[in-house]
Amino acid sequence: MSRNAYIVGTGHAVPDGIITNADLEKIVDTSDEWIVTRTGIKERRRVDAETASSDLVAEAVLNALDMAGWKPEDVQGIIVGTVTPDYPFPSTAALVADRLNMGKIPAYDFEAGCTAFIYGLIQAKAFIESGILDRIVVVGVDCLTRITNWDDRSSCILFGDGAGAVAVSSEGPGGRLGGWHWGSDGSLGEYLIQWGGGSRNPASHETVDKNHHTIYMEGSRIFKHAVRAMHDSCMEALKRDGTPKKDVDLLVSHQANLRIIDATARALELEPEQVYINIQKYGNTSAASIPIALDEAHRSGAISESSTVVLAAFGAGLTWGGMILHW
Ligand SMILES: CC(C)(COP(=O)(O)OP(=O)(O)OC[C@H]1O[C@@H](n2cnc3c(N)ncnc32)[C@H](O)[C@@H]1OP(=O)(O)O)[C@@H](O)C(=O)NCCC(=O)NCCS
Repeated sequence: MSRNAYIVGTGHAVPDGIITNADLEKIVDTSDEWIVTRTGIKERRRVDAETASSDLVAEAVLNALDMAGWKPEDVQGIIVGTVTPDYPFPSTAALVADRLNMGKIPAYDFEAGCTAFIYGLIQAKAFIESGILDRIVVVGVDCLTRITNWDDRSSCILFGDGAGAVAVSSEGPGGRLGGWHWGSDGSLGEYLIQWGGGSRNPASHETVDKNHHTIYMEGSRIFKHAVRAMHDSCMEALKRDGTPKKDVDLLVSHQANLRIIDATARALELEPEQVYINIQKYGNTSAASIPIALDEAHRSGAISESSTVVLAAFGAGLTWGGMILHW
């Protein structure tokens, strides 16, 4: 009998600290009106000096396990998508597995920018359908305010911190992981990049002086690719799933820019109430944005027992991806 993978628990965590558009007006030459009109963002969350990604992950995972009815020792593997791990190594996943007493399970981080959560779901689906694992936790987390260039008004207004997690099981009921699509184009990598700190430009006084440990972004170039990538990912995932777009109940997409979300919704011919949006509260939380939105949609009842949900994302790499969930 063929095996399926189901989301049986969702959870998220965001820090308490809030940065409003008015706060940003004091740092860079911008305005609330510009930010809201061009992005849809009103405020975003920021970790305090003592908090790192693993702290948010631990809270998000416990929320997901609680909904799933799992104890930490029930988890057979944990994977964390992030570009802002606590440390370059060891992995945030291994730190969290230890902190939550999950036992000596496989735990690793991976990186696909803002698309990471969808990449993670595709990995979870493969592990479960192939019989390698029965219960896995997939996490997306980022603390982008730790690597934000606060002198760059075109990017610093976008980003916020958060974590989202799902418990994925070989046993339903839950949100079955259906058709998917994923891809990348490294020739566009320099449009969204952190130049310093890796093996090409290891950390030095010079890399610090040049602000190369923060995000460099060519926003309008990314924008064009993002709109196309989100559209193509949705359509390809639906095709693989055998689901016509008229059967879609809800779009839960990466929250990077309200105009990009709107363009994707239009391509799917969705009504406004069929699109989950929380960008106004959190900005772009990178790998965390889809699992945070999914958890909120789930807990608020926007996802019901028979919902067909489309996930879509794009991000650094450039990467992109989509997945269909059947509740
Ligand atoms: C960044 C982004 C909001 C900029 O919006 P845009 O409509 O493309 O704006 P542009 O970059 O063309 O800039 C238009 C003008 O606004 C100015 N501007 C940029 N940021 C500004 C700000 N925060 N406040 C006021 N003006 C700003 C620019 O300097 C430019 O001025 P100019 O015409 O005098 O040169 C948009 O391109 C975007 O969201 N891109 C995708 C980025 C993304 O999602 N990255 C993460 C990927 S996961």
